[in-house]
Amino acid sequence: MKVRKAVIPAAGFGTRFLPATKAVPKEMLPIVDTPAIQYIAEEAAAAGIEDLLIITSRGKDAIINHFDSAFELETVLERGGKTEMLKASKNVSKGLNICFVRQNEQKGLGHAVLCAKNFVGNEPFAVMLGDDIVTGEKPCIGQLMEQYEKCSSTVLGVQRVGKENVSKYGIVDCEEDNGRLHKVKGMVEKPQISDAPSDVAILGRYVITPAVFDCLEKTQKGAGGEIQLTDALVMLAERENVYAYEFEGKRYDTGDKLGFLRATVEFALAREDLGNGFREYLKSLDL
Ligand code: G1P
Repeated sequence: MKVRKAVIPAAGFGTRFLPATKAVPKEMLPIVDTPAIQYIAEEAAAAGIEDLLIITSRGKDAIINHFDSAFELETVLERGGKTEMLKASKNVSKGLNICFVRQNEQKGLGHAVLCAKNFVGNEPFAVMLGDDIVTGEKPCIGQLMEQYEKCSSTVLGVQRVGKENVSKYGIVDCEEDNGRLHKVKGMVEKPQISDAPSDVAILGRYVITPAVFDCLEKTQKGAGGEIQLTDALVMLAERENVYAYEFEGKRYDTGDKLGFLRATVEFALAREDLGNGFREYLKSLDL
């Protein structure tokens, strides 16, 4: 079955970016001039996703407004002949059918994904986390969707992160082979270095079968006292095959301040309209 639906959980408080995230959703913080969540929506659209569900929460209506049309603004831009600006305002949803649901309690990523149960129904679906922005030739989620079409099983997007970083991620124990697709034997959410089965981390992209919802309903609180998606995936792996796919592309952790700065600098350097001027400025700094 083709993967047509994607879910972006965007309900968290974003405490790592306080005070910026006191009144502005962290997903709306711009990398150059584009909110982080729009890059994720663009990746979904580029991969052929048709329906997108964004899980929001209280105080995060700016996300909903961003993906809506802005009639007053767009009328003024149209009258003023500001075509480029009008395009920038109008072209945010990239043809996706976008809907929203609110998670009304902060119970963790697993609970947020469970809020997508009715939207997803009985189809495989993509999960894309807003903190992870991936650049590269092929959209990251599209690579996982391609693998899903071959194996009809859950596929987790992974890359190696180095032993020193394992405690920040869901870490996968998988069967070694030569290709990029590995069968998953186990997973653990944010292990200590000494308990980590490998340094292969789940980096915010998943294609999951709907059987996960039954697992999520049975998942107890785990790491950080939250209902973890990784724990539900462990249960799922006991019932059916789960694979990890080492995707191609460069991944930025924009949930981390340094990662956010790296993305900002590199995205600005890659821009046709800004790259040269910004490069000259960086060269002029006495570092
Ligand atoms: C979440 C997941 C974790 C995954 C990570 C990727 O953690 O729980 O398994 O490795 O995203 O960024 P978070 O960063 O939201 O704490």
